[in-house]
Amino acid sequence: LARGVREPDLAGRHVVVSAGGTREPLDPVRFLGNRSSGKQGYALARTAAARGARVTLVAANASMPDPAGVDVVPVGTAVELREAMLRAAADADAVVMAAAVADFRPATYATGKIKKKDDQEPAPIALVRNPDILAEISATRARSGQVVVGFAAETDDVLANGRAKLKRKGCDLLVVNEVGERKTFGSEENEAVVLGADDSETPVAHGPKEALAETVWDLVARRLE
Ligand code: CTP
Ligand code: CA
Repeated sequence: LARGVREPDLAGRHVVVSAGGTREPLDPVRFLGNRSSGKQGYALARTAAARGARVTLVAANASMPDPAGVDVVPVGTAVELREAMLRAAADADAVVMAAAVADFRPATYATGKIKKKDDQEPAPIALVRNPDILAEISATRARSGQVVVGFAAETDDVLANGRAKLKRKGCDLLVVNEVGERKTFGSEENEAVVLGADDSETPVAHGPKEALAETVWDLVARRLE
């Protein structure tokens, strides 16, 4: 079927998607961030809405217009993302973690702008671990039969690292991207393999992020039946 004339196979379902990248503030003007644009998460939200789902999009620092008919919850940090995801996941049929979550945040936040001093070396930035949202949602399964999907970008041993990560996170599906030039960050296109906890392996050819999103929803819909 062509785009836009899909079967409404997610009608009556509530799906929750995270998108973008978290920012962990150091002081009022600075943060630790990452290169995630949010495009893949927005494509997931748009395509799920087109397939009839009620969609909650938890958007971390994404600067794109709200997709039509989608409930957008803006967040900044990993801790805020966790709160919004747990709230939305409570009655969700499927949860897709497409956001890039900072693994660490600065241990302290300076309420005033950090100033340099001519007679001092810069202070190191101490970090603490952020909560693992995907692992927590996978372990909790707020609703029985809830399908949980993660994303992973890997540079080496893509499939082996992906398999190990799928197991560690406890999710049903893990979309694994190989990170490289013109792929993944900020680009319009993507190429991936979707690993299933049932040992399935679904390759997705290089193409628009919508095509990958449609494959994800195909795999989710099959598991919701
Ligand atoms: N994720 C999460 N919470 C975190 C870190 C990651 O929910 N604190 C989610 C991401 O949204 C993604 C998946 O977990 O869906 C995999 O993220 P990734 O960074 O590849 O996994 P990590 O366990 O952080 O492994 P790594 O050490 O390779 O970064
Ligand atoms: Ca990580």
